[in-house]
Amino acid sequence: MLQVRDLNLRIGGLRILSDLSFDIKDGSITGLIGPNGAGKSSFYNALFNLFPANSGSIKFDGIELVGKTSDQINHLGIARTFQDSKLLPQITVLDNLLLGSKYLNPVNLRRVFFGHKTLKEEFKNEKKKAMELLRKVGLENKAHSLAKNLSFGQSKLIEILKIFMYESKLVLLDEPFSGLFPEMVKVITALIRELVASGRTIMFVEHDMRLIAEICDHVIVLDAGSKIAEGTFEHVKSKPEVVEAYLGN
Ligand SMILES: Nc1ncnc2c1ncn2[C@@H]1O[C@H](COP(=O)(O)OP(=O)(O)OP(=O)(O)O)[C@@H](O)[C@H]1O
Ligand SMILES: [Mg+2]
Repeated sequence: MLQVRDLNLRIGGLRILSDLSFDIKDGSITGLIGPNGAGKSSFYNALFNLFPANSGSIKFDGIELVGKTSDQINHLGIARTFQDSKLLPQITVLDNLLLGSKYLNPVNLRRVFFGHKTLKEEFKNEKKKAMELLRKVGLENKAHSLAKNLSFGQSKLIEILKIFMYESKLVLLDEPFSGLFPEMVKVITALIRELVASGRTIMFVEHDMRLIAEICDHVIVLDAGSKIAEGTFEHVKSKPEVVEAYLGN
């Protein structure tokens, strides 16, 4: 599904990613791990062309992503969450979810305003879908609250629910569990499994090795911008390079 080949990223003369190559298989859950500053978030940023790669290739279902804009990459079917919340604080939780809808764009909004029947129906369905998602995690009573009033854990939950609104095939999550209470970790784990059951492929960045062991079927380890190990969690955890990378920090 995703093929990364010899990806290099430099920012201001600093090597952030070096000759990075790996594959993500269709339907898998891949963990991307490594010490702080290893380049995990930078890889996501390079994939979305927020940090343009200096060389190398990232192919998604055979289509080259390097050189495409974030919007084009989104439209090809890749969604992501960020390490810090990107919810819009001054609009409602429901409207934040609807921002994930493929129907929401200025042209469609104008059409609905002028009475486009089919689109109006689609918007209604999208709203229903968003409300069902909120109900699933017990947050339906927050639908009309401003996003700024959500707790930290609730915001993370909404960011993941937003992914369900996108028709994405590949989902990149950046530390979806960090700073959460155990109950919330369980809810998010269940949501991730549901994303996979609904046909999505997942990559997620995480520091908690128990969660990596529990959820991932494949793990990629980065250190200082290079891949130092890859395989099952059992395989990578015992590799001397991996132990060294974590102990050295
Ligand atoms: N916008 C930027 N400008 C310059 N350097 C950056 C920028 N963003 C990240 N870096 C550098 O790139 C390297 C990798 O950072 P990155 O945020 O990708 O690490 P990470 O693996 O996600 O770490 P963490 O686990 O702490 O989130 C670090 O040395 C960081 O200082
Ligand atoms: Mg990061």
